[in-house]
Amino acid sequence: MVATASDALVLFGITGDLAYKKIFPALQAMIQQGHLEIPVIGVARRDWSIEQLQSHIHSSLEERGGVDEPAFKKLCSLLCYISGDYGDRGTYEKLCHVLENSKSPLFYLAIPPSLFSTVVAGLKQVNCSQNGRVIVEKPFGRDLASARHLNHILHTLFSEEQIFRIDHYLGKEPVQNLLYMRFANSLLEPIWNRTHVSSIQITMAETLDIQGRGKFYEETGAIRDVIQNHLLQVLACLIMEPPPTEDSDAIRKEKARILKAIRPIDPLDVVRGQYRGYRQETDVAPDSKVETFAAIKLELETWRWAGVPIYLRAGKCLPISATEVLLRLKRPPQDVFGERAFGLANYFYFRLSPNMLTAIGVRSKAPGEGMVGNEVGLVAQVEPASEMQPYERLLRDAIKGEPMLFAHQEEIEAQWRIVEPILTRKSPVYEYEPGTWGPPLADRLTPPDGGWHFPLLD
Ligand code: BG6
Repeated sequence: MVATASDALVLFGITGDLAYKKIFPALQAMIQQGHLEIPVIGVARRDWSIEQLQSHIHSSLEERGGVDEPAFKKLCSLLCYISGDYGDRGTYEKLCHVLENSKSPLFYLAIPPSLFSTVVAGLKQVNCSQNGRVIVEKPFGRDLASARHLNHILHTLFSEEQIFRIDHYLGKEPVQNLLYMRFANSLLEPIWNRTHVSSIQITMAETLDIQGRGKFYEETGAIRDVIQNHLLQVLACLIMEPPPTEDSDAIRKEKARILKAIRPIDPLDVVRGQYRGYRQETDVAPDSKVETFAAIKLELETWRWAGVPIYLRAGKCLPISATEVLLRLKRPPQDVFGERAFGLANYFYFRLSPNMLTAIGVRSKAPGEGMVGNEVGLVAQVEPASEMQPYERLLRDAIKGEPMLFAHQEEIEAQWRIVEPILTRKSPVYEYEPGTWGPPLADRLTPPDGGWHFPLLD
C-alpha cells in the first residue's frame, strides 16, 4: 500500500539547536530540489515574532552552507510560528487551528525527550493528530527501560507505522551502499561468513572535541552517543541476512533479527577513554567518569558469524575524522610462498566518511625474481560526500511515509540490550592525549589478525 504523504510539517523546538544546525539547511535543500511544498509550522516557547524566526533561520543557513535567497523566500512563505508553553492547552488549540485543513500532519519532536510526554498529552487533548506521523531523534532513551517508556508514551497517540525514529547514519549514502554492495552482487555472498571472514572492525574517529555540548555529553558519553545507535546500525547492515522481500519493512526486520543475536557486551570487552581536558569543559564534572572514547569487542553465535570477532571503536579528539569498516579475510589454507609471517590477508574496506571509498585488498606479485608480493587495494568506488545530506533525505522520506531509513522499536531495544551491561557495570575510564588513538590500553582489544586499522586519508 502506498503511504499518504504528509500535508503539513510541525516542528516542535523550532528555536532550538537541532533545528538550527540540521533541520533548516535540510528544508532549504528540499526546496531547492522541489521537495517541499507543505506548510511548516514552528512551535516553541520563545516569544518571537515571525520576523525574528525568519532572521534566525537566515543566520542558520548563512552558517551552514549558505543562503539561497529564492529558496529562503519560499521557506518563509511556507512558515508560520506558534509561541507557547508545551504544557499549555492553548498552544495546541492554536496549532489545531493552523492545521485546520491538514489531514495528515508530520510532527517533528526536536525537543528534549523529557518533554515528549507533555507534547504527546497536549496533542491528545485537542485531537489534531489522527493520521499524523511523528519524528523523534536519537538516542531514543538512555537505556532499555527508558526506551520502552518513551515508546509507550508515543504509542498512546501513534502506532508503530506512524513513528519515525531518526538515526542519521541510516540517511548516509555510504551506509546505504553497504546494503547495496552486499545484496546487489553475487560475488560477496559466498565468502561473507565465518568460513572466510576472520574479523570485522568499525572505526568512527572524530578530531572534534565535544564542542561545548558538556551537558549533553555528561548524560550521554560515547557509548550512548554513537555506539548504541550509529555503529550498531552500520554493523547490522554488514551482518544481516538478505531481506526475503523488497518491502522496506523486510530490511528493518532482518536488522532487528541480527541485532537480537548479538550477545550483550561483557564489561571486560570494553576499554573506555577520556581525552585530557574533557573535565575542564563547561558543564562537565571535575571528576567526570564519562567516556569520550570506547573500544569494544562483540560476538554473536549465528550460523553465519559464530567465532568471528567484531570490534567497534569511536572517539572524540582522535588524530583524524573518518568512519570506516574493515573485514579481514582468512588466509589461504596453504602458505605456498612462505609469506605468512609478514604478508597481510585479503580484506574488504568501506570508508563511510569523509568520502565514500570501497576497496578490496589482494596480494599481487612484486616484479622481480622472488615469489614475493605486495598488498594491492582494488578500489571499486571513490565518491565525494553525498550531495544529499542525511537530514534532507530522512525528512523527505518521513513526509512520504517511507520507513526504511528509520529505526524500528525492535532494533532500538535490541541495541540497548547489547550495550546494557556496559552502561550499568562501568569499567574504568583511562585518560588519553588529544590527537592520539585513545588510551594505549585499547590495544588490549586488538584484533588478533593484524590489529586495529588506523584510517589514513588520501
Ligand atoms: C551525532 C553525535 O549523532 O553524530 C555527535 O551526537 C557526532 O557527537 C555526530 O559528532 C557525527 O555525525 P557525522 O554525520 O558527522 O559523522
